[in-house]
Amino acid sequence: MASRIVSLAVNDRQQEFIAQPGTSLLTALRDALGLTAAKRGCAQGACGSCTVLLDDQPVPSCLVAVETVDGSSVRTLEGVATDGELDEVQSAFLEDFATQCGFCTAGMIMTAEALLAENPDPTRADVVEAISGNVCRCTGYEPIVTAVLDAADRRKAARNGGQA
Ligand code: FES
Ligand code: FES
Repeated sequence: MASRIVSLAVNDRQQEFIAQPGTSLLTALRDALGLTAAKRGCAQGACGSCTVLLDDQPVPSCLVAVETVDGSSVRTLEGVATDGELDEVQSAFLEDFATQCGFCTAGMIMTAEALLAENPDPTRADVVEAISGNVCRCTGYEPIVTAVLDAADRRKAARNGGQA
């Protein structure tokens, strides 16, 4: 099969690149576009470190053949902050010590972003379920769950003009 030109809206910028047949979205992001936040962990859909939002849904980008999502929109961790300002999820991860080695962090944050977009007021059980496909070898998960709940509270407070 021949290589083909693939077009994606990545973090609100239209990008075009040549993809070999079977190239994963993860490889395209990292190698063709230089967006290296999403990490290659297991490369078989089991660890979540490569999670990005594809048309607003969290996906393991290592399992997505990029030629099959031509024309889609993708958001990666690089596209979360606005004008260099961390958003509520990123700030909560930082301040609640939810990141150690950082290998899982991009995937965790993108999973959390998807959860909070769909469910702005999650329970602890909702968060645990949402991140169940994301493996972290360092934190024991508790600080991550705390950070996602904290981020939800921060967004709530922001919506209410600073009152939680
Ligand atoms: S690298 Fe994609 S799920 Fe592990
Ligand atoms: S912080 Fe190291 S794998 Fe999660």
